[in-house]
Order: sequence, then structure tokens, then C-alpha cells
Amino acid sequence: MNDLYLRACRGQPVERTPLWLMRQAGRSLPEYRELRDRFGFGTLLRTPELAARVTLQPVDRLGVDAAILFCDILVPAEALGLRVEFQPGPVLDRALRTTADVESLRRRAPEEAVPYVFETIRLLRRELDGRVPLIGFAASPFTLAAYLIEGRGSKGFEAWRALVHGEPATAHRLLETLAALTADYLVAQVRAGAQAVQLFDTWAGLLDEAGYREFDLRYVRTIFERLAPERVPRVYFALDAAHVLEDLRDCGADVVGVDWRIGLGEAARRLGGGRVLQGNLDPAVLLAPPPVIERRAAEVLEQAAGLPGHVFNLGHGVLPDTPLEHLLALVEAVGRHSRRGRS
Ligand code: CP3
Repeated sequence: MNDLYLRACRGQPVERTPLWLMRQAGRSLPEYRELRDRFGFGTLLRTPELAARVTLQPVDRLGVDAAILFCDILVPAEALGLRVEFQPGPVLDRALRTTADVESLRRRAPEEAVPYVFETIRLLRRELDGRVPLIGFAASPFTLAAYLIEGRGSKGFEAWRALVHGEPATAHRLLETLAALTADYLVAQVRAGAQAVQLFDTWAGLLDEAGYREFDLRYVRTIFERLAPERVPRVYFALDAAHVLEDLRDCGADVVGVDWRIGLGEAARRLGGGRVLQGNLDPAVLLAPPPVIERRAAEVLEQAAGLPGHVFNLGHGVLPDTPLEHLLALVEAVGRHSRRGRS
């Protein structure tokens, strides 16, 4: 029974700092690549037995302190009648471009539209049997909207940004729909057995501060408010968001994920006291030799020393070419250094 992650999220005492890695399932593990090449990403995602197997791979192989559901942030788009494929980046069968497109969206209950997500969660809770907690997730409405308007991944998401600035009423209409959908989706994940939930806001950094408050933060808050009665830790991770850290004081999350561009100490000051933080080793450090990884991991732990709680993570997802031995070296180093810090 390892509940270090849940205790750290709640600001309770822990014997060592728990660790999990964003994008730990998939990408760099050889046993993931083998399954993906055999079945294809779409089948892995939509088949509960396979999705559960991929979710468990990093728990078994790396010894991380939490499992994150193997799924993708684009999956709930299927509850709006859109079809998503992965090549490997997400591609939708059609992009939403006009006000009429947005107004014509009908929202189905996630349990009906994507039942495999909840079946995977139920299966995982049985298979994990308390070994480590299970994290559910979704994208922030702003980040999900970027893909729905663009129809696929993009470097600059210009179509979405054009809509935000040119037709803000339509943008808000879409964001409201996505906030309601995402709240339903996460509540359903918790009821199926997810023990914490994380909102990924990968594209928050496209907005300036005023834009962030208007088009992103308020919808994040709405979702976390809807989740409050579920009593699970709520985690918010926004990439490239150092310019809006003060605003994140009222994001409604119990834990804030910090990317690698800002130190945890400074992030804590700007977020205001009393916050549990998650992060924030630069994922590219894992491409360097193990002694460098160990030193840099120890530095992150030192910065976190005065916090009310810390969940060790990277400042963004594991990079696809990260060697397995480097991931193992990180888990070992964080275990050893954080135990030492507490004895
Ligand atoms: O964290 C985990 O290990 C759980 C699984 C997970 C996936 N996607 C599986 C996946 C999670 C949490 C996500 C979130 C996700 N998906 C985000 C937010 C986090 C982030 O990285 O910023 C975003 C922006 C996406 C959209 C997406 N899905 C992209 C851009 C891609 C292309 C390539 C890649 O690996 O990022 C995907 C496909 C995808 N989702 C893969 C995996 C394992 C790769 C498919 C493959 O090649 O096997």
C-alpha cells in the first residue's frame, strides 16, 4: 500500500518525496512501443485490457509512486461527436471553424460516448489493488479548444488564436461547452475510481496575462469547483505559465505543477504560501548522464525543502528518446536524496 502521492498532495507528512512522471506511460518504454506497433495507438487507447496494461508498465518497470491512466486529452472530443485519430499526433475528422460549427455541438454523457475510459479505470483499480494511487486527467478547456479549432496539433494554433481575438463570444461559447464536458468527464473518472485528477494546460502560454484570465483560468476554476465535492486532490499543470503564476493563486487546485523554466522556490513565493507543488526537473536533463541527473534531481528536492508538500515530477512530459536507464537513475536518486533529507 503506497499512498505517498496522495498524502503529499494533501500536505500530510511523508517518509520520502513521491515521484511520478508526466507521459510516463508510452513514449520511451520498449514494452510500450512493442504493444503500440502490434495494435496501434487507437486500439491500445480504446481497449480497457490493453490501456490498463500500458498504464501499469511504468509502475512495474520504474517503480513510480502513482499510475496515470493511459488515455489522451483528445478523447473526450468524441463526446461532442468528433472522431479522433493519432498519427501519432491527434487529428480530428473535422475542425470546428465557424460560430455555426460551435453552436451545433451536442454534448453526450462521457459514460455513453467513451465507456472504455471508465472501464479501464475500474479494471486498473482492481489490478492495482492499492499498490499505488491512480491519477485521472483531462485538458483544460483552452488547450482542448486549440486542437478542436485547428483540427490537429500545431506549433502556433493560429486558427484558435484568431477566433479568440476576432470572435470572443464564439470562443467563450466553445469554452463553456468544454468546461461542462470536462467537469462531467472528470467527475465520472473519479466515480469510476480515479484517486486524483490533473488538468493539463499545455497551451496556456499562448495567452498574455489578461487573455489567460479571461479565456483559460475561469474555466479551470469552474471545473475544479465542480470537483470539490468529490474530495480527491485536484492538480493543475500549465506549461509556460510563469507570467501568470500570481493569477494561479485562485485556480482552485490543491496542487500546482510547475514547469522547469522557474525555480520551485520562486514559484512558491509568487503562488503565495501554503501550496503543494509538483515538478519540475527539465525533461532534457534525463538525456544527460546519470551523475548529472542525480545532481539536478537533488537540487529540485532542495528547492522544495520548505514547501508544505512536494510531488517530484518533470517540468513537462518524458521526452521520447529518454533512455530507460536514465529514468531508473532518476527514480533511485529521488528516493535516496529525499529519504536522507528527512532522517
Ligand atoms: O502521461 C501519460 O503517460 C498518460 C498518457 C497520456 C498521453 N497523452 C498518451 C499519448 C497523457 C497524459 C497525454 C496528454 C496529452 N496529449 C497532452 C498534454 C500533456 C503534454 O504533453 O503537454 C497533449 C498536448 C496531448 C496531445 C497529443 N497526443 C500529442 C501532441 C501527441 C503526439 C505525440 C506525443 O507523444 O506527444 C499525442 C499522442 C500520444 N498521446 C502518444 C501517447 C503515448 C504517442 C502515440 C505514439 O506515438 O505512441
